[in-house]
Amino acid sequence: MSSQAILVLGGTGTVGSRIVRQLSSYHSTTNSPPYHILIASRNGTSSSEEQPQNVRHVSFDWHNADTWSSAFSAFPFPVRSVYLIAPLSLDADRLMTSFVDFARERGARRFVLQSASSVEPGGPAMGKVHSYLRELGTRGELEWAVLRPTWFQQNFANQSNHVKSIREESKIYSATGEGKIPWVAADDIAAVAVRALTNKVPPNTEYLVLGSELLSYGEIAGILTDVLGRKIVHVDLSAEELEQRHQRFGMPEDYSKMMSAMDTAIKFGSENRTNDVILAVTGAAPRKFRDFALSAKDVWETGKKE
Ligand SMILES: NC(=O)c1ccc[n+]([C@@H]2O[C@H](COP(=O)([O-])OP(=O)(O)OC[C@H]3O[C@@H](n4cnc5c(N)ncnc54)[C@H](OP(=O)(O)O)[C@@H]3O)[C@@H](O)[C@H]2O)c1
Repeated sequence: MSSQAILVLGGTGTVGSRIVRQLSSYHSTTNSPPYHILIASRNGTSSSEEQPQNVRHVSFDWHNADTWSSAFSAFPFPVRSVYLIAPLSLDADRLMTSFVDFARERGARRFVLQSASSVEPGGPAMGKVHSYLRELGTRGELEWAVLRPTWFQQNFANQSNHVKSIREESKIYSATGEGKIPWVAADDIAAVAVRALTNKVPPNTEYLVLGSELLSYGEIAGILTDVLGRKIVHVDLSAEELEQRHQRFGMPEDYSKMMSAMDTAIKFGSENRTNDVILAVTGAAPRKFRDFALSAKDVWETGKKE
């Protein structure tokens, strides 16, 4: 076994859990020794009783710095690489840059940040963490990568607002009009992340992680209609209506305003682009929305979790 650990913050979430799964099997396809993996979340426990020896769960809360150190003593050797997923707050950059310093003092060398296609370096929240990593990287003080994925295909099966409206009303809501998005699969984001965390050569760059098909919410509704065998309709809201809808689902007001502003940007073409990053980094073509929808069908038919 290698004598270094990889810490995956948000390791039980949509992308983090896939990173953990892929890291757990990656060594067998690459002939490298198994990685030691730390899965961090507030819950800090495993849902399955059996855990391989090289995988540990640790309790970690961005908002409680007393919890930050446990990951660094979970294995008897250092954490060398860290995957960073932001908490759901607009002051995330302050916590995340403090944590980067905290981890560096304890021997961490490589940081891979999950940002978003819509967040430029220096922009709000993760954007500031992006520039921080780039700046320290330029000075040779750490190795870094920033993933900037577009909107996840999995949102339709993971986010309660979408699941509820598809199941109960046969509707999906947005304020994106006819705007198109290159929907990306969480498994593809994870595959890029695994390379960024483990490749011998440090990436020291950003990756705009986009799917290959440009689809509007109306076209997504069309695919869901085919897959589910019942008519699914896209309801095009105003930005204010979407904001209120997000708040009804428990989203903080400032965050809901940011989310509806993103939909308005999409309406005017901000996500109307694709690239070959997934193929170039992983060697595999991006997954298609229809395949995701077929695999998630049970969520919309029976309410089973994805
Ligand atoms: N969804 C999209 O379309 C999209 C597109 C681009 C970028 N993004 C970005 O992707 C990120 C979300 O990634 P995801 O969807 O993979 O995550 P997710 O499924 O929402 O999971 C969040 C993870 O973080 C943990 N977590 C939540 N609050 C925490 C806290 N205070 N301290 C420590 N851990 C905490 C959760 O576990 P516990 O609850 O147990 O703590 C869970 O493991 C966000 O930064 C978002 O902006 C999303």
